[in-house]
Formats: sequence, structure tokens, C-alpha cells
Amino acid sequence: MTIEVPHVPIDPTSAANLANRGLRFDVVAAEPEAVEAFQYAVARGFLDSRESADEKQLRYDRSLERRNSAVRDESNADPLIPIATISSWISDLTVPGGRSIPAWSITSVSVAPTHRRRGIARDLLGAELRTAASLGVPVAILTVSEATIYGRFGFAPSAMSADWTIDTTRAKWTGPTPGGRVHLVSSEAVRDGSGRDIVEAARLLTPGQVEYDGHLFERQFGLPGKPEFDAYRVARYDDEAGVPQGFVIYKNVRLSDTWTVEVQNLVAATDDAYSALWRYLFELDLVRKVTANLRPIVEPFQWQIQDARGARKTGERDHLWTRILDVKAALEARSFGAAGTFVLDITDDLGFAEGSWLLDAGTGTVQKVDAVPVGAHHLAMSANELAAIYLGGTSITTLVRAGRIRELSDGAAAAADASFRSPVTPWLSIWF
Ligand SMILES: CC(C)(COP(=O)(O)OP(=O)(O)OC[C@H]1O[C@@H](n2cnc3c(N)ncnc32)[C@H](O)[C@@H]1OP(=O)(O)O)[C@@H](O)C(=O)NCCC(=O)NCCS
Repeated sequence: MTIEVPHVPIDPTSAANLANRGLRFDVVAAEPEAVEAFQYAVARGFLDSRESADEKQLRYDRSLERRNSAVRDESNADPLIPIATISSWISDLTVPGGRSIPAWSITSVSVAPTHRRRGIARDLLGAELRTAASLGVPVAILTVSEATIYGRFGFAPSAMSADWTIDTTRAKWTGPTPGGRVHLVSSEAVRDGSGRDIVEAARLLTPGQVEYDGHLFERQFGLPGKPEFDAYRVARYDDEAGVPQGFVIYKNVRLSDTWTVEVQNLVAATDDAYSALWRYLFELDLVRKVTANLRPIVEPFQWQIQDARGARKTGERDHLWTRILDVKAALEARSFGAAGTFVLDITDDLGFAEGSWLLDAGTGTVQKVDAVPVGAHHLAMSANELAAIYLGGTSITTLVRAGRIRELSDGAAAAADASFRSPVTPWLSIWF
């Protein structure tokens, strides 16, 4: 899909709503002064401190790849600084079956404290969703600061994340010893060398991962001027043929007389790379503890250590939030684990996903219907539950038990679970 997202015009409905309240809603021009005012408003909205010149430059470069929209209040003391901000771009989202779907990616949602709770964010989100749908983008995605904001716009968590703490004195590696080699390399060797290819290969293995590059990729290695830039170490796994297949970025933290390794990101394009890199971390001398945040809620390493209680999940929460805009395109893009026909009655306050949809999971086709064909399983839910089950990480039976999905024919939930469930637990490894 080739759409020049930064130049897509502003949504007229939200622009008119905001104009009625004396506010101006525009796409931010790609000019240094306007972009800097936009970035200043974003940083202020997220309670960040002022940035260094290096950071400003990086953010400026990044912002040119995105569509930045801003609301300004001409009656404000400083009318050039937006009172509300939002950014978007299209990235490929991996869905079950190793395929990708274009996803309208949203970030930098902020409204100034002086203008909160007047419905401005509602107009920002409505504008993004209508714009994405009008361009034929089938889903929207975001990572969120609070879990209470986006449900009302039809989003739901579709991939969870976990924080792990591994006591390496207990864990003891019992998993495979791959035949390739782990090399200690410079950050630059991976950042400017094989890193992007590894990220791209790895993301297709897991539903919920997104294609990422530019600032989102480079900041993994620490940004110049930030303490992480000097602290991070990088190890790379090359397979037996010498091809780089994975890397880990980590830092060593000293706590009295012991050391902890904090994993910033571990990316593996093969199972061998995964095993070799975790083994490397678990067997580091002087180190007693390895911590890793923003990891999947299910890790193969749980089955690769002698004492399973040596690896503890210390946190688990929603991470990737998804919104289905085009039911047919979204469902037809993914694969299903078992055949079966399903009618999904979807309600949607914003209209995008509304209707009864017949899914033939055997052929992977979807059509809108007026009646339930004989033999089809029948379920009813809102756009939120459809988003929650989309990547195959949320049990439909659980949502029926929670009263969130209605099972309108016997056995529909169990049959749908068999079809929708992803064998690989959905996971997104970055914030955006
Ligand atoms: C979150 C934020 C963008 C909301 O902006 P806003 O203009 O005040 O939101 P709106 O007035 O449009 O609110 C729309 C609805 O969301 C609700 N809402 C807004 N912020 C909320 C929050 N933080 N928690 C729970 N509900 C919230 C409002 O009560 C309103 O509900 P209703 O429609 O049922 O009446 C703003 O508070 C903000 O900038 N927060 C700090 C930055 C941040 O966390 N951004 C989100 C990044 S993912």
C-alpha cells in the first residue's frame, strides 16, 4: 500500500467540530518551527523534560515520516504551541499465519492540561479512524499510557507483555546448545549492519509485531547524549553458516557485590538464535540476575532451565491495542487453525465494523450476511471483543464466561477458539 501519509488532509468532521469551539485543527507543516512547536507540545503533554539539540534533531527527522496533526487555540498566551497533538503512519502488523496487514499506527496523543476533558481527544481519535478507514487501512493500532482511554473508541488489547526476572544461580540452562557462535560486537555493528534484517525476519514469526525502522529502531541502542548510549552492550548470534540471526542489547548494573543484567531487547529470527542468546545471558560470570521487560507472556526459556522457579514473571499487562476498521479485510488477512463457519454479529458505536459477518475459516473468506446459514456457529460481540480476539491471543471462551461475547449457538465458542487461537502467543516488542 503506497500512501503518502504525511500529506493526507485533515478530517473535515473533526476540524468542523473543533472550529465550532474556536480551535484550529491542521496537519503540521514539515517546517522546522512548526515541527519544533509540535514536539514541544508532545513532550509537555507526556510530562517529559526539555530535550537536547541531538534529541530534537532525531525527533525532527522521525516526525517527517509521520503525519502530525495539531489543535491550536488562537486565544492562548502562546498560540503557536499546539494544545493537542496526534501522529500517525502506516506500518505492517504481523497476523497469525506469518502474513502482514497495513495498520494505521497512532502515537503522541496529548491534550494540554488547560484543555482536558472537553472532548478534544475524542475528535483527534475520530479523525484518525475515519482517515484510516477512508484510505482502506483495515486496522488501527497503538500502545497506551493508560488502559482506560481507548476502549470507548473500539480498541482492545490484542497482545500482552510481561516482565521477567531470572535468578541465574537457580535457573541453569538445560536447553539446546546451537552450533553457531555468539559474538560480542559494537552497537554500531548491529545498528548499522545486520540488525534491521534480523528485526524484519523476526517480526514475521510473531503476531502482534510491527515493521519498524528509523528512530524506533535506532533508539533501541540508546540515543546519543543519553546514558544508555554508553552503557549498552550487544551480543550477536551467527548461525553455522556465519549468517547473523539474532542479537541482544543489554546493560550490566552493579548492586553491591553482585551484578544484574538488564535486557533492553533480544531479537531472534531462529529458535537457535533464541536459545544461544538466552543461554549466553544466563551463564554470564559475576551475574546473579537477568531482568527483561516488555517480553512475551510465554517464553520458551521457561522450558530450557533446570529450576523453572528460577524464572519469574514479575508483571503482565496489556501492550498492543488494536481497532478493526474493515472486518472483511482484517479477517481475510490472517490464517485460521481449524475449519468452520461462523457468523459474528458485531456492534460498533462508530460504525466501521457494524454488521453480521460470515467467516469461512476453511477458505479464509468473509462476507456480510443478513441471516445465519444452517450449520454456522453464531457469536455476538462488540468491535472491542473482535479486536481482542483478532490476533488469536485471547480466549473466546473466556470472553463468553466474562459476559463480553454472547454464544448464540451451542459449541460456538469452543469451535471459534480452535479456529482463532494462534499457536504463537501474540507479542509486540517495542513501544511506539
Ligand atoms: C488522555 C488525554 C489525551 C485525554 O484527552 P481529553 O481531551 O481530556 O479527552 P476527552 O475529553 O476527549 O475524553 C474523551 C473521553 O475519554 C475519557 N478520558 C479521557 N482521558 C481519560 C483518562 N486518562 N482515563 C480515563 N478516561 C479518560 C473522558 O472522560 C471522556 O469520556 P466520555 O466520552 O465517556 O465522557 C489527555 O488526558 C492527555 O493528554 N493525557 C496525558 C498524555 C497521555 O497519556 N496520552 C495518551 C497516550 S496513549
